[in-house]
Amino acid sequence: MSQQHQAAEAPRSAVAAPRRDWWRDAVIYQVYPRSFADGDGDGMGDLKGIRSRLSYLRDLGVDAVWLSPFYASPQADAGYDVADYRAVDPMFGTLLDADALIRDAHRLGLRVIVDLVPNHSSDQHEWFKRAVAEGPGSPLRERYHFRPGRGRNGELPPNDWESIFGGPAWTRLPDGEWYLHLFAPEQPDFNWEHPAVGDEFRSILRFWLDMGVDGFRIDVAHGLVKAEGLPDLGTRDQVRLLGNDVMPFFDQDGVHEIYRQWRRVLDEYAGERVFVAEAWTPSVERTALYVRPDELHQAFNFQYLSTDWDAAALRAVIDRTLEAMRPVGAPATWVLSNHDVTRHATRFANPPGLGTQIRTAGDRALGLRRARAATLLMLALPGSAYLYQGEELGLPDVVDLPDEVRQDPAYFRGAGQDGFRDGCRVPIPWTRSGPSYGFGSKGSWLPQPAEWAELSVEAQQGVPGSTLEMYRSALAARRAHPDLGAGDAVEWLRAPEGVLAFRRGGFVCVANTTGESVTSPAHGRVLLASGEVTEAEGEVKVPSDTTVWFTTA
Ligand code: NOJ
Repeated sequence: MSQQHQAAEAPRSAVAAPRRDWWRDAVIYQVYPRSFADGDGDGMGDLKGIRSRLSYLRDLGVDAVWLSPFYASPQADAGYDVADYRAVDPMFGTLLDADALIRDAHRLGLRVIVDLVPNHSSDQHEWFKRAVAEGPGSPLRERYHFRPGRGRNGELPPNDWESIFGGPAWTRLPDGEWYLHLFAPEQPDFNWEHPAVGDEFRSILRFWLDMGVDGFRIDVAHGLVKAEGLPDLGTRDQVRLLGNDVMPFFDQDGVHEIYRQWRRVLDEYAGERVFVAEAWTPSVERTALYVRPDELHQAFNFQYLSTDWDAAALRAVIDRTLEAMRPVGAPATWVLSNHDVTRHATRFANPPGLGTQIRTAGDRALGLRRARAATLLMLALPGSAYLYQGEELGLPDVVDLPDEVRQDPAYFRGAGQDGFRDGCRVPIPWTRSGPSYGFGSKGSWLPQPAEWAELSVEAQQGVPGSTLEMYRSALAARRAHPDLGAGDAVEWLRAPEGVLAFRRGGFVCVANTTGESVTSPAHGRVLLASGEVTEAEGEVKVPSDTTVWFTTA
C-alpha cells in the first residue's frame, strides 16, 4: 500500500544554520491541507497547493508550519483515520510532493512539523482489515482492543465508555466481537500494551525524520494507554467529564514511558527536531508532565484556548501556565484557534461561557475586534504561539453550512463533544474573485461565503490596519525584539479592572478587555496596536477591546 518513491537522500537535517532551541519562542502556523490551497483544481486542497503558497508563509513571518494529516486515508475523520502512515493520500499528492514541500520550506527558512496519529488507525489499515478478516482468536486482534460483549449473548458493549463523537465507544462485528474506538467506528484504538504497536510507531517516526521533517504534532497524545482491565466509568454523559478529570482512557500515567522512548529516537537526529502534544488534560499541571526534559518539547495550552475574553480569567490562566511550565523547563505555548474549535473571531463575537463549539455568528465586528486584541496579547507572551490558517485574515466560522456539505463525523453522530468543526475548515480566500477566491481553479469542498472576498489575502495585503498586516507587523516585531517571546515570566503592572498590563524587558503590553476605552500611561513608544489609539501628553487612550504594544527600546 505504501507509495514506493523514497526521498532521494536521507537522512537530511532540518533548516540550515539552526538557531539553538528555535522552538522555545517559535510561531507555528497550522496548515489544514484540505482547505489551504488546491493545486490540481479538484476542489480539495493538496500538497502542491501548499507548496505554491509557502512564500506567503515566509512573508507572514512564521517560523514553522504544522501540517494536519495528509496520509493515505478513507477520510472518515478528515485524515485523522490513517490507513497507511508512510503514504500520501492521492487526493493530497505523492511522497515526492511531500519531499519537495519539505525541501522548499527549508529553503525558505521554514520548518515543517507533521501530524502523527498513534491512538487509532483507520479501519482500512492493513492490520485492522486482517484482524477483522481472520476472526476471533487472530493474533492481529491483540494490536487493537477486541473483546467479547457483556450480557447473555454478548449483545452489550464490553464496558460503558462513550465515544468522544457521541454514542458507544464500541462497535460489534458480525462475528460477535466488539472493538474499541474512542472516536468514530472507522477509527479503532490501538492496544499500546502490544510491543508491535510501539515498534511500528518508532519506525514511522524514523521514516518521517529521514524525510527531513522537523517534528511531530501528536494527536490524542493523552489517549494511548488505557487503564488496566478497561474499567467502567460508572456514569453516563461522559463527554461532559472530558478535560475535567483523569479518565480510564485519557491521561493515564503509563503514557509517559512511550514518550520517553520516542524522545530517545528523536534525539538521535540532528537539527533540533521537536514533539508537540495534543493532550487534553484536566489541568496545566498535568499537561506539564508531558513536557518534562526527557519527554516531549511542547504541549498545546487548551486551558488558554478555552478562556473567555476577560482580563481576570486571562491573567489567571497565564500565571498558572507559566508556573506549571517553569519547574519542568518547558516553554509555555499559546493558541486561540485550530481545526477542532470555533474560530476565535466567532467565539469572542458571542457571549462568554459557550465553550468552543459555537453555532451562532454573534456580533461579527465585536468578534473581530476582540480577536485582533487577543492575538496581540498572545503574541506578547513568553513562549511559543500557534496560529491556525485564516486567523491572520480575521476569518469567522461559517455557522450556516448546509447539512449536505458537512463532513465532520461528529455532526452526524450527535451528542458528542464536537460536531461543528466544518465551520472553521472552510477553504482560505486568496483573491477577491474567481471560482473559489483563489483557493483553486474550480470550486471548494465547503462553500465560502461571498463576504470572504473582502477578507481575502488580495484584499488585505498592503492595506494599513488590515488584520493580515497587523499579523505581519506583530511577527516582524517578535523577530526584531528578542524580549517578545523569550523567557518564562511576565511582570504585571498596575492596571484598572478589565485591563491587563505587563512588562517584558524593554517592552510593555496593555490589553483592554472592557467594553469601554481606558487611559494608559505611555510605556514608551507605541510599537503596534490592534485598534486606533490616540497619544497625548504621556498618556494613551486605548479603545475598548484593544491591545497595544509599547517599546522603550
Ligand atoms: C484530534 C484531532 O485534532 C481531531 O481533528 C480528530 O478528530 C481527533 N483528534 C481524532 O483523531
